[in-house]
This record gives sequence, C-alpha cells and structure tokens, in this order.
Amino acid sequence: MARIAVIPGDGIGPEVMGEAVRILGVLSEHPELDLEWEAWDLGAERFLRSGVTISDEDFHRLAEDYDAILLGALGDPRVPGNEHARDILLGLRFRLDLYVNYRPCTVRHSRHSPLRSPLGAAMDVHIFRENTEGSYAGVGGAIRQGTPDEVAIQEDVNTYKGVERIVRAAFDFARGRGGNRLTMVDKANAMPAAGGLWRRVFQEVAQEFTEIDTEVMYVDAMAMDLVRRPDHHQVVVTSNLFGDILSDLGAVLSGGLGMAASANVHPGRHALFEPVHGSAPDIAGQGAANPMAAILCVALLLEHLGWRWAGARVEAAVQAALEEDVGTPDLGGDASTGQVGLWLADHLRNDRNLWERDTHG
Ligand SMILES: NC(=O)c1ccc[n+]([C@@H]2O[C@H](COP(=O)([O-])OP(=O)(O)OC[C@H]3O[C@@H](n4cnc5c(N)ncnc54)[C@H](O)[C@@H]3O)[C@@H](O)[C@H]2O)c1
Repeated sequence: MARIAVIPGDGIGPEVMGEAVRILGVLSEHPELDLEWEAWDLGAERFLRSGVTISDEDFHRLAEDYDAILLGALGDPRVPGNEHARDILLGLRFRLDLYVNYRPCTVRHSRHSPLRSPLGAAMDVHIFRENTEGSYAGVGGAIRQGTPDEVAIQEDVNTYKGVERIVRAAFDFARGRGGNRLTMVDKANAMPAAGGLWRRVFQEVAQEFTEIDTEVMYVDAMAMDLVRRPDHHQVVVTSNLFGDILSDLGAVLSGGLGMAASANVHPGRHALFEPVHGSAPDIAGQGAANPMAAILCVALLLEHLGWRWAGARVEAAVQAALEEDVGTPDLGGDASTGQVGLWLADHLRNDRNLWERDTHG
C-alpha cells in the first residue's frame, strides 16, 4: 500500500489537485495499484485561522507516515510576506533534505511551444536542480536597511557533499536513459570558487560514467542555447538558482507553466511532487487553471513508487488530450479545469493498455 499526502494549498492549488486526485481515484481501481491518499490542511487558510504555518508534528508525520507528498501550490495575496509558503515548501525541501529537484521540459505538442517547428517539437530536456544549497541556503543578511548605505549580502553556499550528490543523481538518470549527454551549467568565469568546485566534482563523478557524453556550459550561454538548439540538450545539472531560472525557461519553451511538473526527491527516502507553477491568484476560482502539470506530477509519482507503466499511461492520456485539442485557455483551448480532468479520467478508464497490460511488462 502506497500512502500519499495531498496538500492542495492555495489559489489554483485546490482546483488542480482536485483533478490530480480524480486521476488517482481512477488508477486506484487497478488491481496492481494499491494507493491511498489523505488531504492535508496546510496553506494560507490554516495560517490565517490559527497562526500556524506548519508544526514540527506535521513535518514528522509527513516524513514518517507517507510514501510521497503531492503539493498543489502555495501563495496567497492575504499573506503578503508569504511566510506560510516559505515555511511549508522550503521547510519540506530542507527538513526532508529533498536535494534533487527534477524538472522535465518535454514538448508534447509543437503547437504549444513558442519555438518554430520543428525546433519546438524536438525539446526533451531533463533538468536536475540542486535543491538545498546555493543562493537559497538563507546565509546572509542586510545592514543599514532603508538608508542609502544599505548593504545586502546573500551568500552562495556550495558544499562538496551537496554538489556530489546532485551530480551523481543526474548521471544515474542519464545512465538509466541509455547513455545520454549530460551538461553541467555554472558561471565559473564570474564565480570561480563555486564553479571550480562544481567542475572538479563533475569531472570526478564522470569517471564512473564513461559511457555518458559530458559538457560544461555557462548559464548565460545555456539560456541562449535552450532557445537556439533545444534538441541538443538532454540531461542538465546545475545549482539551485540557475536551475530555478532555466527550468522556468524550459517550462515556457515546452508548453507553458500549466504543463510543467516537478519532483523534489531524496532518493531512497522522501519525495514531494508539485507543479512548477504557483498559486496563480489572477485566475484562481475561475475554473481556468490547467490541471495537466498537476496530473503529470501523478505520473512522476507513480514512476517513483515503482509503477512506471502506469505513469506512462497518464502521460499518454495527456498526449491524447493535446492531440484532440482538449485544453484550458492557456493552451488556446476552451475547456475548464474540471472538463480537462474528466476527459483524462474517462480516457484512462477506457485505456486498454492500462487495464489489460501484461503484468510482467
Ligand atoms: N511552488 C509554489 O508553490 C510556487 C511557485 C511559484 C510561485 N508561487 C507563489 O504563487 C503566487 C503567484 O506567483 P506568480 O504569479 O509569480 O506565478 P504563477 O505560476 O502562480 O503564475 C504565473 C502566470 O502563469 C499563469 N499560470 C500559472 N499556473 C497556471 C495553470 N496551471 N494554468 C493556467 N495558467 C497558469 C498564471 O495565471 C499567471 O499568469 C505567489 O504567491 C508566489 O509566491 C508558489
């Protein structure tokens, strides 16, 4: 039995998670998919009601009682400082030590990429973003705030252990895919201390993966290259900040935020799956949010739980919807969040490859 904690969160979070749970409901009818989930009341509502963002007991239970976490989005205009989102999301990433942030950027239909076809059709980039260090480690401070003499320092923290484990995770993934190319992205020319460590570790770990082609690129060149020749890149490993930026670029090039799923993982221990997008207050409550990113998170979750074949059927359902032009307004369609979810659920119910699969396949 796989137990999943579902945190719908704020804004469009509950809308898209509602559809993700609908898909979990269909899948749980499969005799081989022993799934159970529980909704968690974490987000702006609870914070405004109780003053609690997330408690130690919550962290403990989320870490111990579940096989995976599925999170919608956090962020609410009623909490302008966003402290609940920081405590919950960064808290989970840091306290569960979810050091791998995996963000696939795959074009599913060239119609949805702003890149000219066939360039836009050929993008299938898998970004491995370091998720616990770098500029987001919270090291630094400010003095003389609000004066012309203000000084703000935000340190970029890179440890040998932190770099080694994310680089290794990216190499492992590349190997699992059959010896793809792995690109390490840094800014070693302007930030030589951090870049020096990343390059040395990358070369060291590469010795164990000689079948994989490696290359190193500066982040500015990489941003340009993702647009210029998106088909060249396969697996990319980089720091927290650069990965954050490049994966948003990758998301928009491959179909937009409404399609971008991500995994936050400590291999062998904990995993949290969330759409790349935020709580989108501008469209919340209108039924206009694209639930595909959240549903593609279910596909990643199934793969993580050892049911890759089922995850592939969820991806195939999304692909079928795109081929049939079923989509929310961000994709140029006129379907609502619920209509897309229902279409995908029906498609899965009628997917013979899901229900009649060779159980050893
Ligand atoms: N992981 C997270 O929970 C997360 C990530 C990013 C931002 N946020 C928070 O979300 C709030 C809004 O942030 P933002 O506006 O910068 O980013 P956002 O991702 O919420 O929205 C950016 C734009 O993309 C659109 N969009 C996003 N998701 C969509 C979807 N599924 N379907 C259709 N359109 C979609 C929005 O309407 C908006 O125009 C802020 O409070 C921010 O801090 C949370």
